[in-house]
Amino acid sequence: MIFSALSPLLRNAGLASLTRDALLRMDPETAHGATITALRMGLAPQQAHADPQELATSLCGLDLKNPVGMAAGFDKNAEVPRPLALMGFGMVEIGTVTPRPQTGNPKPRLFRVTEAEGVINRMGFNNEGHEAAFARLKGLRVPAALGVNIGANKDSVDFVADYVLGVQRFADLADYLTVNISSPNTPGLRNLQADEALRRLLGEVLTARAKAKTRVPVLLKIAPDLDEAGMDAIARVIGDTDLDGLIVSNTTISRDPVAGRENADETGGLSGKPLFALSTQRLAQMRQRVGALPLVGVGGIHSPQSALAKIEAGANAIQLYSALVFGGLDLLDRIKRGLVAGVRAAGKKNISELVGTRTDEWSSGRAE
Ligand SMILES: Cc1cc2nc3c(=O)[nH]c(=O)nc-3n(C[C@H](O)[C@H](O)[C@H](O)COP(=O)(O)O)c2cc1C
Repeated sequence: MIFSALSPLLRNAGLASLTRDALLRMDPETAHGATITALRMGLAPQQAHADPQELATSLCGLDLKNPVGMAAGFDKNAEVPRPLALMGFGMVEIGTVTPRPQTGNPKPRLFRVTEAEGVINRMGFNNEGHEAAFARLKGLRVPAALGVNIGANKDSVDFVADYVLGVQRFADLADYLTVNISSPNTPGLRNLQADEALRRLLGEVLTARAKAKTRVPVLLKIAPDLDEAGMDAIARVIGDTDLDGLIVSNTTISRDPVAGRENADETGGLSGKPLFALSTQRLAQMRQRVGALPLVGVGGIHSPQSALAKIEAGANAIQLYSALVFGGLDLLDRIKRGLVAGVRAAGKKNISELVGTRTDEWSSGRAE
């Protein structure tokens, strides 16, 4: 996926033909590869000024310079966490990484639903595996909270064991770990969200964490396609553990918001603007179930207003990915400016004071 905001920089670098429109016309996965390469080459814009105090916050004991993060799936192999942090993200989540490298699903597997500003992917955890990511991250200084998102190999005989390997490999290196059991593209993975399976998974993951040198925060990333009973079960199970937080949500398998649009019938997870309402409602509904547990809100953030709404619905911090494809990287700056304006307009001093101020409206579907 390409960040359109990179195009002026690419022009400066003598790559004039790579205009925003040209990049958006490219096959999406090729465009994504070009973006990662550009970032690796140091062509990313860097944040000019420190973030204002209004945006300084904390998540699971981590100090964040701002609450806006890059979601998992953009930098699956930990190639560019530092450029992303220098660009101004308050947290950067790499992965999903699986113990062994895997190629993922056959291409094409990434599609734009352009009219709706949506994305559908069925990448299937394509990644170079734990060792490659570990080697890149070891000793690297990342000026943001660094998350490592861990998963299971598609052909694994024991999914839980793969997550335990992820904890063992990255606990002493990451600022937080995300246990991703919500990708729709690994058959059977989402079954780990069910009661007993989740109990066993979290039991083993948190036992592995307890044996590591550092007590790294562990968050669980869940799907937006859970019903009330599914959300109840998750809240009940995590209530019995010392899990540090939830990330709500991954992509959706539903297609209602994009029915009839180009590429809407592709198999995979839908993200971007069409995911916003569903994922924000699920976030608020989980906020009602988990009290003060830290929550990261992700799904369809595409503007300063939608970023603020996610926080008001109950997110302590937010992440985004798909909107950067359409909006460009200046969206990050616009969102941060919008959040500061929102804090001031509400007569508050810090963004954390707005967390959950409209949870009830969002959980009932009354808010927009
Ligand atoms: C191409 C693509 C690949 C993704 N890969 C992962 C992944 O490997 N692990 C994960 O937890 N989420 C992955 N996601 C989901 C995002 O992290 C995020 O939860 C979702 O896209 C909703 O946010 P957005 O609407 O801002 O994109 C991926 C999303 C996209 C678009």
